[in-house]
Amino acid sequence: MPAPLIRIENLHFRWADDADFDLDIPRFEVHAGERVFLHGPSGSGKSTLLGLLGGVLVPERGSLQLLGNDLTQMRQAARDRFRADHIGFLFQLFNLIPYLSVVDNVLLSCRFSARRLARATAAGNTPAGEAQRLLTRLDLDPALHRRQVTRLSVGQQQRVAAARALIGQPEIVIADEPTSALDAERQGAFLELLRDECERSGSTLLFVSHDHRLAAGFDRELSLPTLGASGGDGNAR
Ligand SMILES: Nc1ncnc2c1ncn2[C@@H]1O[C@H](COP(=O)(O)OP(=O)(O)OP(=O)(O)O)[C@@H](O)[C@H]1O
Ligand SMILES: [Mg+2]
Repeated sequence: MPAPLIRIENLHFRWADDADFDLDIPRFEVHAGERVFLHGPSGSGKSTLLGLLGGVLVPERGSLQLLGNDLTQMRQAARDRFRADHIGFLFQLFNLIPYLSVVDNVLLSCRFSARRLARATAAGNTPAGEAQRLLTRLDLDPALHRRQVTRLSVGQQQRVAAARALIGQPEIVIADEPTSALDAERQGAFLELLRDECERSGSTLLFVSHDHRLAAGFDRELSLPTLGASGGDGNAR
């Protein structure tokens, strides 16, 4: 069996100014190509865990390996580069740049990573052409592609954020509850598009939500409180 894409061991994290909260994860592994759904109540540490996986936060102890590299052994600049090259982040509040167009927001991932740019254009597409291909796959009308991103609905902005996470085929796509503003029918349709696109680009998907009704269609569902308590086998339901 190949080495896991994500491997966490004996992870311990605490916010400097929040003595009431600790995150302890004895063991957690995700294999290449898996689509994992992680749920847990508000405040259970889901976004904190994603911040650790993205190298934005640093644990007090433990190891945090992605693609065989231990993030805890890297300096901040190396972690930032690693994140830009290998992780597509889809944020809880999208984090789109308000004064840029739809396509320019998608292209940000390529501006911060030569590797993602090379992968986005490998099939002979221009970067903008690849951004537009992805946006169209995600069902965003081409008439909107050049619009300023703030002139889009929330559901449309969410698809822009998804295209930005997917462009340049990052090995890992991490989505932090990006569907909370949508109605149930649109949530389901969006999740299906996201899973399909991850499959096409060979990306491993880690999707986080407090709403475990969204878990259908994922390979594995687990809860953060259970992960922390037992270190489990990652198959908790
Ligand atoms: N920047 C911060 N500084 C200090 N404490 C923080 C910070 N961000 C989060 N926390 C604390 O860490 C705990 C976990 O927060 P986190 O944002 O990871 O939860 P979550 O599971 O993502 O919740 P939600 O479902 O509401 O997004 C909370 O108790 C919160 O108060
Ligand atoms: Mg959160």
